[in-house]
Amino acid sequence: MLSLITFALACLNAASSVTALPQEVQPSSIFTSTSGFTGTGFTFSAGRSAVCLIGRISVSASAQNIKILYSGPPNQLNATQTIQELLAGAPTIYEETNGGPNKVSGTWTLSTKLCFPADLIAASRVTTVQLLTHGATLDQTYWDFAPGYSYIDAAAKAGYATFSYDRLGVGQSQHPDPIQVVQAAIQVEILHQLVLKLRSMPGLAGKLFQNVVGVGHSAGSTFTQALTQQYPNDFDAVILTGVSTSVATVSAGQAALNLQIANQSPTNNGKFNGIGNGYFTPSTQTGLQFAFFKYPNFDPAILTSAFQKLQTNTLGELLTFGTLVGPAASYTRPVQILNGNSDYVFCGGNCKLPSDQAAAALGFFYPAVGDKGSTYLVPNTGHNINQHKSAGEAFAKHIEFLRKNKL
Ligand SMILES: *[C@@H]1O[C@H](CO)[C@@H](O)[C@H](O)[C@H]1NC(C)=O
Repeated sequence: MLSLITFALACLNAASSVTALPQEVQPSSIFTSTSGFTGTGFTFSAGRSAVCLIGRISVSASAQNIKILYSGPPNQLNATQTIQELLAGAPTIYEETNGGPNKVSGTWTLSTKLCFPADLIAASRVTTVQLLTHGATLDQTYWDFAPGYSYIDAAAKAGYATFSYDRLGVGQSQHPDPIQVVQAAIQVEILHQLVLKLRSMPGLAGKLFQNVVGVGHSAGSTFTQALTQQYPNDFDAVILTGVSTSVATVSAGQAALNLQIANQSPTNNGKFNGIGNGYFTPSTQTGLQFAFFKYPNFDPAILTSAFQKLQTNTLGELLTFGTLVGPAASYTRPVQILNGNSDYVFCGGNCKLPSDQAAAALGFFYPAVGDKGSTYLVPNTGHNINQHKSAGEAFAKHIEFLRKNKL
C-alpha cells in the first residue's frame, strides 16, 4: 500500500514537473563536448535566452601583410603626431611607411563564445550559426552588451547559434606585435579559419553547421566584406552594420576618439598593462559619444558602460584597413546592410544625404547581388547601433532578413 502511494506521488511529481514552467537547460546537455576549446566555462547571454560555452581556441593563419617602416610610437607625443598624419587630408604616411608585402604566419589564442538557444528543442534544431565580428575599440561584448541590448539573445530566440570572439589583439585574445602582425589582412585570414572550423568536423564543441552567416559591425563589417571578396563561398549570407563607402567624416569621428597609447591611457585601469605602444584606445567618454552615439536615443548608463568596456585598435590596422576596401564582384548570396541613420562616422550624421548611404554601399560592395541585397537605416541611431534604445528594432530587421532568405 505504502509503495503504491509512493508510486502515485512519484507520478504526480513527474507530471507536475512536465507542466511546470520551462526550466533553463543545463548547459552540459547542449554542450556535450568542449572539443577545440581550452579554459572552458558555461554562461548565459545577457537576457538568458542563450546558453554559451566560453573558452579559448587556437587559430593558425597566414596572410600577406605590409612591412611597415615604423617602430614605435616611442611616446604619446609621437603617437598623436602619427595619428594626425593618418587623418590628414593627403596622408603621405601610408606611402612613407609602406615597405612592401610581408608574409605573416602564426598560431594565436582567441577568446570566444559559442551560444545556442537556451531551449533544448530549439537548440536541437539549429542549422545556422552567425559569426559575429566586432568593430574597432570594441570587443565581443558588443554583441551581448546588456539585457535588451544583446544580438546573441535575439538570435537565440529566433533559433540561431552565434559564435563571437575577441579579434586578434583585442580583449582576452592574444596581443602580438601591433604594427607588423595585427593588420587588416591577418584579421580576414583568421575570420576565414573560423569559418572553416564551423563548417567541418571535429569543429568546435563537436557542432557542425550547415550554414554560416557573417555578421559584422564597423571594422568587423570591413573584415566580413573582405572575406566575401576573397572567399565568396565562406558565408551563406552576410549582414553588415555600421559601414558605408562615404568617408568624408571618418577622420573627424576618429579625431573625436582622441586615441592614446592604451598602456599609458588614463582609462587603462590595468587592463592594457604590458601591451605594445602600437595599441591605442579612445580617451574620453564625450569623444566616444561624439563618434558612436546619437543623443537622446541611448541610456546614459549604457554610454558609461560602453566607455568602461572600451578596448583597443592597432596602428597596424589603422595603416592597412584601406587595402581591404573593394567590391565582392562574384558574391551573389543574400546581403543586408544596416546603419544607424544618424551614424556620424560613416554618414556625417545623416545616412539619407546626399542619397541613402546603405544603398550606395550595397551597390559598391555587392554589384552582383541583385534582389538578394537589402538595406535599412535605423532612425535616430548612431554608429554603435546595438548600444542604442533602437537595438531591438535593428535585431528584428536582421532576423526578418534571415527568415526571408530561408536561413
Ligand atoms: C615617431 O617615431 C617613429 C618611430 O621611432 C619615427 O620613425 C618617427 O619619425 C617619429 N615621428 C616624429 C614626428 O617624431
